Amino acid sequence: MCGIVGYLGKKQAVPVLLDGLTKLEYRGYDSAGLAVVNAIGKIEIIKAHGKLTELKKKVKSCGKTIKGLCGIGHTRWATHGVPNENNAHPHANDDGSVVAVHNGIIENYSELKEKLIKRGYTFYSETDTEVATKLVDYYYRKYGEPLRAISEFAFRVRGSYALAVLFGDYPNEIYAIRKDCPMVVGLAGGECFLASDVPALLKYTRDVYYVDNLQITRLKQGKAEFFNLDREMLSLPLTHIDWDLKAAEKDGFEHYMLKEIHEQPAAVKNTLNCYLKNGKIDFSEVKLSDETVKSTGSVIICGCGSAYHAGVVMQYVMEDLCRIPVRVELASEFRYRNPVVAGNELFVAISQSGETADTIAALREAKRLGIKTLAVVNVYGSTIARESDFVFYTKAGPEISVATTKAYSAQLIAGYLLALKYGVVRGTLTDENYRALLNELCALPDKISEILKEQSAVQQFASETVNRENVFFIGRGIDYAAGIEGSLKLKEISYIHSEAYAAGELKHGTISLIESETLVIGVLTQDKLAEKTAGNLEEVKSRDASIAVIAAEGVKIPESCGKAVVIPCTDGHFTASLSVIPLQLYAYYLSVLRGNDVDKPRNLAKSVTVE
Ligand code: AGP
Repeated sequence: MCGIVGYLGKKQAVPVLLDGLTKLEYRGYDSAGLAVVNAIGKIEIIKAHGKLTELKKKVKSCGKTIKGLCGIGHTRWATHGVPNENNAHPHANDDGSVVAVHNGIIENYSELKEKLIKRGYTFYSETDTEVATKLVDYYYRKYGEPLRAISEFAFRVRGSYALAVLFGDYPNEIYAIRKDCPMVVGLAGGECFLASDVPALLKYTRDVYYVDNLQITRLKQGKAEFFNLDREMLSLPLTHIDWDLKAAEKDGFEHYMLKEIHEQPAAVKNTLNCYLKNGKIDFSEVKLSDETVKSTGSVIICGCGSAYHAGVVMQYVMEDLCRIPVRVELASEFRYRNPVVAGNELFVAISQSGETADTIAALREAKRLGIKTLAVVNVYGSTIARESDFVFYTKAGPEISVATTKAYSAQLIAGYLLALKYGVVRGTLTDENYRALLNELCALPDKISEILKEQSAVQQFASETVNRENVFFIGRGIDYAAGIEGSLKLKEISYIHSEAYAAGELKHGTISLIESETLVIGVLTQDKLAEKTAGNLEEVKSRDASIAVIAAEGVKIPESCGKAVVIPCTDGHFTASLSVIPLQLYAYYLSVLRGNDVDKPRNLAKSVTVE
C-alpha cells in the first residue's frame, strides 16, 4: 500500500522518480505525486488523481520540464481522506519549505492536529500526512535542524510510517525515517536512491540497505548516513539482492500474474533446493533446532488471505504426518481474541510481503505471550522476518501481481518441509517414508510444468463460463483447502461472486443458493474422499447447477461429473500444489476475458500495511 521513492544524484530527478513509482505500482494506489528541488532551490510539487499516466501527463515530456537533481515521489492508497489531488502526497508546510511523502497511518493524528492548530497551523487536506509534515516543520522551526526535527516527530507520533522529507534549506539532501513500513536505500556511482521496495532500485543497483524501525536516513553527496533517535550515527550492513531486473519485469508475458504462474516450477524448485542438502532437510539457515522441534507442544499458524490458505493446507499436512496439534487462525482475529496458550507452542507467521499489518500484530501478540516464532516470508529483511525468532525465506523471487501465485506455492513447500522435519525429528515418520516424501516433493516442479502445458484447456473452459456470476468450489480435506484459495483468486481478479465450501457442509444451508446458472467446481485429489465429494456434486447437479471437476490422475470420478481437468498424481499430502494451478489459471483467464486490470485489481493493494 502506497509507494515511496527518492532520488539524489546527477540526473534529472523527475524521470527517475516516475520510473521508480512505475515499479511500485503493484503496491496499489489511487493518486500520485512528486516533489523536486528545482534549479533555483525551491521545492516544486506536482500531484494527480488516478493512475501514474495522469501524473506523467502533468509533468509533460517525461518530466524534463522541472529541472532538479533531488526529489521524492509517492503513490497513495487512500486511508485518511478520499482519493483526490488535494489529498495526494507530497504535502507541504505553509511556505512550501518542508515537503514530505508518507506510507502508513499516524494513529494520533487528530490529537497532533489540534495541538498544531493551537500553535497557529492551518490545514488544507484531510490527511494524516499533512499533519506529519507540519509536525516535522514545527520541530524544524523550533530546533533549526532536520535530524532533530525528525527524531522529535518520531517521539510524538503513534502508528506506522515510512516518511521521506525535503527541507528547502538543505536542497541537496533527503531525510527519511520508518516504523513498521518498509524502506530500502541504494547507492550507485554517486547517486542515492530510496524506495518502499527493491524493484524500484533494481535498474540502478542490487546492493541495498534495509533501514530498520526508528532509524533516520540522510542522503547526501552520494552517501547514505543512518542515525538512531539520539542522532548517533549507525552502521548498517549492505545486502546484495540476488535477483535481477528481469525477475521484476513482465518478460514477454501479457501480465505479471501469468508470468508468475509460469514461474511456479522455479519458485518451488528454488525453495526446495535452498533447504535440501545431501538428500535431507537442512534448517540451519532457518535456525530452528531439533531441540525446539522436539519440545514444541503444538503449532499455531497465522496469516491473511492466501497466506492463511497456505496455512490451512499446512495444518492438514502437519497434523497427519507429525501427529502434533496444529491450529490455523486468521491473523486479524488472533490478536483480538485473547488467545490461550501453554507457552510451548511454535507460532508460524506466513506472509509473502512480511509487512502485512494484521500478521505483524498477531506475531507481536505471540511474542508478548512468550511463544517461539517462525516467519515464512518471501521478502528479505521485512518486518515479520526481522521480528521472528526463526525465518524460513521462501525463494519465489519478486512477486508483483496483487494476486499471489508463486509465493503461495512456495509457502506450501515451506509447510511440507516443516511437516517432514517435525515428522522425522519426532519419529512419526520412518526414514523410508521421509525419503519417499522428499522424492515426491522434488517431482513437484515438473508436474506443475506439465499442468501449465495444458493451460489452453483451462482458457477454453473460462471462455465457456465467462458469464457465470456465482461459482462454488467444493472439496474435502486438502481439496477444500485448495478450493478456498481458488475461490479467493477468482473473487479478487475476476470480480465474480464465489464461495468455497467443505463439500459436506454445503447441504447445511448454502445449498439453497444453488440454481441453474450456478457453477460448482469440485476438487477431487484424495482417493478416500473423492467418492463423497462426487456425491455432493451430484446433489448440486440435481438442483440444476453446472458442475466441473479438477481431479488427480487415477482418482475415480463418475462420468456424470462433466468437464474434468486431470492433474498428475502425487502423494495425497502435496496435491494442493498441483490442484491450485488450474484454479489460478481459471481466475486469470476469466479476469482477462472480463477486461479487468489483472495485476492491479480494484480496491486492492499488494501489501496490506493497515489493519
Ligand atoms: C492474495 O492473492 C491476496 N492478494 C492476499 O490475500 C494476500 O495473500 C494477503 O493480503 C496476505 O499478504 P502477505 O502474504 O503479503 O502477508
